[in-house]
Amino acid sequence: MNRGIPPFYEPGLEDLVREMVEKGMLSGSTDNVDAVRQSYVTFICVGTPSLPDGSADLSAIEASTRDVGMALNDVDGYHVVVAKSTIPPGTTENLILTTLEKYSGKRVGVDFGLCMNPEFLRQGEAVHDSLNPDRIVIGEYDKKSGDVVEYTYKDYDCPKMRCDIKAAELIKYAANSLLATKITFANEFSRICEKFDVDVYEVMKGVGLDFRINPRFLNAGCGFGGSCFPKDVNAIVALADCIGVETPLLDSVLYTNKLQPMHFVELIKDAVGTLDGKIVAFLGLSFKPNTDDTRATRALPIIKKLYDEGAKVKAYDPKATKNFERMTDLPVEYYENWEEALRNADLAVVQSDWKEIRDIEADDFKRLLKNPIVVDGRRTYEPNVMISKGVKYFGIGWNNLEI
Ligand code: UGA
Repeated sequence: MNRGIPPFYEPGLEDLVREMVEKGMLSGSTDNVDAVRQSYVTFICVGTPSLPDGSADLSAIEASTRDVGMALNDVDGYHVVVAKSTIPPGTTENLILTTLEKYSGKRVGVDFGLCMNPEFLRQGEAVHDSLNPDRIVIGEYDKKSGDVVEYTYKDYDCPKMRCDIKAAELIKYAANSLLATKITFANEFSRICEKFDVDVYEVMKGVGLDFRINPRFLNAGCGFGGSCFPKDVNAIVALADCIGVETPLLDSVLYTNKLQPMHFVELIKDAVGTLDGKIVAFLGLSFKPNTDDTRATRALPIIKKLYDEGAKVKAYDPKATKNFERMTDLPVEYYENWEEALRNADLAVVQSDWKEIRDIEADDFKRLLKNPIVVDGRRTYEPNVMISKGVKYFGIGWNNLEI
């Protein structure tokens, strides 16, 4: 980081990090204690991945909070600690507060302040979302702590909501659960639309024009993946179960999300008759475009099922190939360009709609594939263009589109 190089791919991040490092506004250190001592506000942003039972693993929170507490021990003056990680309700006050007091020997509300400030950025859009948030939620232990965090964000022109710490923790889970539910709703409708030869994208466009609903996150696809929605919906369901609260809606969101990749493989099968012996050009391995992240990518269950059905896969992704290769021993052939992945394959399958993949033209599919068949897990191409140029274009949420 101190050389201006982020350890993962995120559009625009490298330029921003380099600029900030060169201006002396950003520096990295492996010494947590020293970093805290040199600042007024500490944000705890470590990961909270899923444990096998779906609940959130708080070990990194505990370890970093201990370091922050030890550092606070010899900090003079008032310091505010802010939990930014996604953590179950109660974690800031039960785990973070007590650990800080224990290791610092100081008292919250007197010697140091405490807030919970959830993060709402999307991977692939992280720089834009961080600099242009819709809202900033500040859960505060007391007014003084909240004032310091609000002042930290003084240059951001968006609503700033001050609330109770547990409310801030829950706002994050509720927002992610609702977004995952919206996507799942579109996915469930996609299967109904397919039976009626109606286009789910058109249906959701009509639905989304209602200002109470809005059109975002109603794009049907192979199911939601990534490091957040699956983890957070599982965590809140596991937590609710522990406290005796039933969650039939979120249970079915998780269930439907598991079905969707299998349903996609059924569509692929319908397009070619049988998958046995077929060579599939697979476009897009990351969980969504513009990221090299493959955590919970739908590409994995889909590719596994393609092999189960007797197919072979030639895969292309602009950035995520290395990360995906580490996830599976399947004999997938990886290509650095889409032309080679498409060449002589029986059909093409699109899992995530990177710009590089969107720019492939109908004529390219016709020129390179043995049969011009494209099955899309996203609305990557204009159906009229594809169909009028002789590509057999199928996908999630539509069937036999007329042009
Ligand atoms: C998500 C939330 O959108 C962020 O607000 C949140 O801060 C973040 O989780 C987090 O908790 O840290 P992210 O996982 O980076 O962000 O990516 P999304 O753009 O939300 O996509 C998640 C998954 O949903 C992807 O697999 C994507 O393909 C899928 N998706 C998204 C759809 O299938 N349809 C849509 O309409 C939108």
